[in-house]
Parts: sequence; C-alpha cells; structure tokens
Amino acid sequence: MLHSPAVYGIFGYPIGHSLSPVMHNTAFAYHGLDAVYVPFAVHPGQIETAVKALQALQIRGVNVTIPHKQAVIPWLDELTPEARLIGAVNTIQLQDGRLIGHNTDGIGFLRSLEEAGAAVEGRNVLLLGAGGAARAIAVQLCLSQVRCLDIANRTRARAEELAAFLQQHLPGPAVSVLPLEGAPLAACLPHVDILVNATSVGMESADAAALPLTGLCPSQLVCDIVYRPRLTPLLRAAERQGARTVDGVGMLVHQGAKAFEIWTGRSFPIPLVRARLLEALEARGSGLAGEEEP
Ligand code: ATR
Repeated sequence: MLHSPAVYGIFGYPIGHSLSPVMHNTAFAYHGLDAVYVPFAVHPGQIETAVKALQALQIRGVNVTIPHKQAVIPWLDELTPEARLIGAVNTIQLQDGRLIGHNTDGIGFLRSLEEAGAAVEGRNVLLLGAGGAARAIAVQLCLSQVRCLDIANRTRARAEELAAFLQQHLPGPAVSVLPLEGAPLAACLPHVDILVNATSVGMESADAAALPLTGLCPSQLVCDIVYRPRLTPLLRAAERQGARTVDGVGMLVHQGAKAFEIWTGRSFPIPLVRARLLEALEARGSGLAGEEEP
C-alpha cells in the first residue's frame, strides 16, 4: 500500500536556513505522527498560487515567513482576531476546506516570558522597535493588559503610527512614544519592569550601541527576540547589571509550539525541541539570524 504522510511546511523566500523543519519534525517524531514538515521557497510573484494550492495538495498547514506574512492575507478565508490586529499571518491552518490565518508570534513571546516565570499584566513595558515583530508583541502585550507601554524606535514616525493604532484598537494600557536614545529614554528606564528588544539590533554587535545598555537594574526583566547570538550585547549588559533575562530562542520555540497545537491538537515537547534547535543553531555557526527566521 502507498504510504502518504500528512504534509506541513513553511512558505518563505529565501527559506533554506529555516529552523522550523527541525522543530516540527522533532515534534512529529516525538508523538509518532505520520507527518512531514518541509520548507517551500515561494517566489513573491507566486504567493497567490502557492496559497491556493494548499487545498488541492491537501497540505494541512504552513508557517509563513519573510516576505509573505502580509501578502498571504487576501487569499485566506478567515483571520483570527490577533492576526487581524497584527496585520500579518505566520501560520495557516486548513480546516474543513477553509484557510484560516493565525499569528502565533505575540503569544509565543508571551509564553516565553511565562516559562521564565514572568507575568506582564499590570507591568510597565518598554518596547524597542516598531517593525513587524514589535507590532505582534505590542498587540499581545495590550491584549494581556500591561499597565503602560512605551515604544522607542529609530524612526519615530513608525513608533507613532503603531502607538496610534494600539490606542485606537486596543484601548486600555497607556501607550507613549520615546526616542531610542537620549534623556527621555534614560528617564523612562527606572520605571520599566520589562524591557523588550524587538529590533534586529544585536544580530551584529556593531549596532549594539543603538540600544540602552546602561541604567538597567536587578528588578527588571530584559528580553531580546534576537536568538543569534543567543547572548546578545543587550542581554550581556543586562546580566552584568543584575537584571533577569529571556533570550530569543524562547519566542522561536513557543511560536512554533502554538502553530503545532493549532494544526495537530498536540503539545510541543518543549525541552526536546529546544535542545534540537540549539544543536541546529550551533551547527550553523555565526551567520546572521535574519536569514533563518523562524
Ligand atoms: P521585523 O519584521 O523583523 O520586525 P522590520 O519590520 O524590518 O523587521 O523591523 C526592524 C526593526 O529594527 C525596526 O524597528 C527598525 O527600526 P526602523 O523602523 O527605524 O527601521 C529596527 N532597526 C533595524 N536596524 C536598526 C539599527 N541599526 N538601529 C536601530 N534600530 C534598528
């Protein structure tokens, strides 16, 4: 009899360095599921065709990464409230013939904090960055009822646009905008419970001076979404100043875990997946993290 495993995968371009196949194939094997997860290099001009082919090919689900996270949206039947607010999809689920777009980045970030024993409700959060990753995290932080959210970004207009969007669609926490440097940022730092770097700074240490590396304190939790290097200049500075830290591997694992739950109803074997992921990261040496997200 012909053997036909369930197929899952990831759409990106380029996609050769994706770590998601390692994570999901580890989890399929752990659960003894007859399934396989493959990378699909989908040229930007072909994304409509690729999404529409999911149904015909009976592909059960895909992750979506750069540059397709927004481009897939017009071809989906439904978006979850989070995906709609974030304006980007990183997980597509095929359910009863319908294509449902999810975004698990924000919840993945939140779970990585929970894993470290940190709650965000009622906390003051300083978010560095206003790009796609920052937006996913900001939406989730507002949904999780942080007390106040300050957003600092190199391009101030982008931070202002994000803050205005959050205030309009997620009223609750006070959201304000700061420059990424100088006296206002220094004055804000002592009031911050949780500092999150959601910029790409830290992949190359030379850029690290763009982030606040001083004025941190032991009561703070400092998080970085950059996972290579795992110990970024910001996390190293935070450790030196006695702050607790959460590295970017947590968000990577937990966004995958949530996608796996959506597709299979099973849970990720987190310690095993993390171990395999760290082995894969180590084997790949010191290239840029951005090449392999997620
Ligand atoms: P992603 O989807 O990974 O978030 P992105 O949307 O390109 O990627 O956003 C990258 C973020 O890193 C932005 O906040 C960007 O700041 P700008 O909005 O000013 O571009 C920030 N960033 C990238 N390189 C930076 C640098 N050298 N210094 C400060 N911020 C930087």
